[in-house]
Amino acid sequence: MITKPLTQKRKAESSAIKLLPMLVEAAFWNQKAAMSDVGEKIAAIVEATHPAISKRIRNTLDQNRKPAYLHNPDKLLEFEEARHGFDTVILPESIESDCRSIIQEHHRRGELAPFDLLPRHKILVYGPPGNGKTMLAEAFAFDLGVPFIRVKYGGLIGDYLGSTGRNIQEIMDYVRTGPCVLFLDEFDGIGMDRNDNQDVGEARRITNQLLISIERLPSTCILIAATNVDHLLDSALKRRFDFVLELPKPTEQLKRRCAEKELNPSITPGFNLLYLLDQIARAPFKNLKEVVDHCQRIRRDLVLNNGVGIEDINIRITDSGRLPMPQVVKSRYQRQCEIFDWACSTFGKEIATAPGERIRRFVEEALELAQAAGLCENDIVKLSDFVFSRPVGDIKQEVGQVGVTLLCYAQHIGINADEEENAEFNRLLSMDQLHFQARQNAKASLGIGAACVIELKL
Ligand SMILES: Nc1ncnc2c1ncn2[C@@H]1O[C@H](COP(=O)(O)OP(=O)(O)OP(=O)(O)O)[C@@H](O)[C@H]1O
Ligand SMILES: [Mg+2]
Repeated sequence: MITKPLTQKRKAESSAIKLLPMLVEAAFWNQKAAMSDVGEKIAAIVEATHPAISKRIRNTLDQNRKPAYLHNPDKLLEFEEARHGFDTVILPESIESDCRSIIQEHHRRGELAPFDLLPRHKILVYGPPGNGKTMLAEAFAFDLGVPFIRVKYGGLIGDYLGSTGRNIQEIMDYVRTGPCVLFLDEFDGIGMDRNDNQDVGEARRITNQLLISIERLPSTCILIAATNVDHLLDSALKRRFDFVLELPKPTEQLKRRCAEKELNPSITPGFNLLYLLDQIARAPFKNLKEVVDHCQRIRRDLVLNNGVGIEDINIRITDSGRLPMPQVVKSRYQRQCEIFDWACSTFGKEIATAPGERIRRFVEEALELAQAAGLCENDIVKLSDFVFSRPVGDIKQEVGQVGVTLLCYAQHIGINADEEENAEFNRLLSMDQLHFQARQNAKASLGIGAACVIELKL
């Protein structure tokens, strides 16, 4: 009988859970041999169903790489759970590729060793808050299957002269004994420019100590230092890193990729919200955390209210004044009157109102929109045959239908039609009329519409 993967997974989980009390007891009584035995059993049980967990347990048990247990400097270090791998972190392409190279170098350190090469392991990551510095650090620990250790600043900065330096030494002595990711968040707090600190003497000592410690750190410890303010860092210190990575304010493309992950149809069952991506990408979110929060608000509404509040939630990012709105917003009717006056004044009233002139312009723009949206000429010819095979409609109703159809299309592609119309209106009115007169005459020379008289302004 073929065991279904889900059943197999449940069985493995259930067998592993049964071993947990023994593991806790062994840890409580500091029975290292028993801990190793139980750990190895769990690793074997979950090997097929949870390979990453199995590997992580075996890495820890590996005698050659096992931390020689000094004493765990509890007040200085915190062991945290790494919750994400690189699959879930949205990064600019070049940074993602650097990170994947580092991971590969660690996975294949055995191939580098005979050539006297070591994997690179010192990374400085900087950029404004909320764009994934902490996530990136966690992803290294997750994908390499090693502990994620964060330095606790409260304990690190000592009250007495020299105590911070001693604490740094203690941390480095500890982490050099086993494979791990050591995360120094808000690195500017200790790696500050030696010339830029009030207590210059102590700052110099700390920075010098860091320089030496980082230099001597073995490649089994991946050091990740993060800061929002890289310009405050000592430049000699920066040079000690193998990589200095910037996670900048997100581009439209990054916001789009982030929203695509957060609103993926696999986690919005019954709904396809991908039409919102362009709108979210263009909204002025300061960082990816805001994008994630926004998408989660939408998903919560899906679960609790069947999505009835989605438009409201989205309108908040477009109409709350956070999206740059055009300077002058006139009513639609006012724009209608003014644009007609503008056409009469630009081309002359006779030409602007010549039979078929205005509607030809309209069809031209509609065709350009269709072309920009990817329709091919053949589709348009077929549509034209279809329309002209049917009875003529009422002109007022047709104008209304053109309007609502355009609104519906704009919503589908995540564009605010009113905003775009207003922006174009302002652009036309701000440009030199000669430009439009020349275009009109170029078309007239092809037999489309009438030429207008260009009045030279002296
Ligand atoms: N690059 C990203 N990919 C996916 N989600 C992200 C990303 N950046 C931020 N997020 C979302 O924002 C949250 C906060 O991100 P994170 O803590 O990594 O930011 P940070 O750069 O470390 O910020 P800070 O400077 O405040 O420490 C994450 O838990 C995640 O939900
Ligand atoms: Mg952080």
